[in-house]
Amino acid sequence: MSRWRKWRDEGPGRGPRTLKMAMESGSRPGKVLVPRRQGYLLLAALLVVVAVMVFYWLPRRALAAELVRTEPAVLLKNPRLRDQAVALARPVYASHCATCHGAKGEGDLKRGVPAMNDADWLYGNDPVDLEHTILYGIRSGHPKARNVADMPAMGRTGQLTDGEVSDVVDYLLELDQRPHDAAAAERGRPVFFAKGNCFDCHASDARGVTDYGTPPLRGTSWMYGGDRDTLYRSIYSGRHGKCPAWINKLAPAEIRGLAVMFHEGVLSRER
Ligand code: HEC
Ligand code: HEC
Repeated sequence: MSRWRKWRDEGPGRGPRTLKMAMESGSRPGKVLVPRRQGYLLLAALLVVVAVMVFYWLPRRALAAELVRTEPAVLLKNPRLRDQAVALARPVYASHCATCHGAKGEGDLKRGVPAMNDADWLYGNDPVDLEHTILYGIRSGHPKARNVADMPAMGRTGQLTDGEVSDVVDYLLELDQRPHDAAAAERGRPVFFAKGNCFDCHASDARGVTDYGTPPLRGTSWMYGGDRDTLYRSIYSGRHGKCPAWINKLAPAEIRGLAVMFHEGVLSRER
């Protein structure tokens, strides 16, 4: 009898296939049925592995390949691919980014982590720019990291006096239409436009410059905080926030998915 026939007639285990066969062959069922059951268990496990491959792993691999070879601009115009990119990115965000950027993208003022659920992006909202930031990080030490400008420690280095730091804070509060000392704000204006060079990095309207990765100095999306004390501290002691590089920790498709998720404002819509 061929091996196949034997398997077909007797099942994957080496014992007789049915109780009747077991009795006919004279062996005790308790003994012969156990190896047969093991055979079926093995087969079931194999089926599960095949099913996981067919229904989970292969489609995921195909999606990852499609995401990586599709230009972000094209990807955004394809609703199916865009939604799949976001679905791929969400668990990655939860496991790798939420510790700092917040489960809902709310950021963390204490650590200077920007919110991801608003419309302000230090380096812009273009998916290609977002992808670059995620790949190489910000001041991460990677040679391609974002690292154009730092917030100088204007007070500590003596570039500005304590009074000038305080005056420019009043100027910022005035721009933001919050309670301020008008005379101090008047003195703060030339600090912003001349001595402190603030306009050079943060723009004349203080709304930030994406080429340099400088935050806006008005509005509600603060990295460290917009209250008087925190503003004073940012200007006096400087700031140098860091975001890790993810190039060797996440798959290219996951990084593309994250860029799409931020670009699409998925977290903003859930605020
Ligand atoms: C050389 C460029 C440069 C100059 C000049 C500069 N800044 Fe900045 N500033 C930055 C950068 C870059 C950051 C973001 C720091 C970070 O990412 O941690 C920043 C951050 C800040 C913050 C923190 C904002 C927040 O969201 O919490 C404040 C406040 C600030 N700057 C005010 C000023 C003022 C006022 C001046 C002028 C006296 C000034 N900056 C001059 C580059 C500059
Ligand atoms: C250890 C804390 C930390 C973790 C973890 C982290 N980030 Fe960041 N991230 C930061 C900080 C701090 C900044 C702001 C850096 C600066 O000062 O410019 C930042 C900035 C960013 C920015 C720019 C935000 C803007 O407003 O333009 C992006 C995009 C970003 N992170 C993506 C990610 C992604 C994606 C992950 C997860 C894969 C992640 N980050 C994980 C700390 C973190």
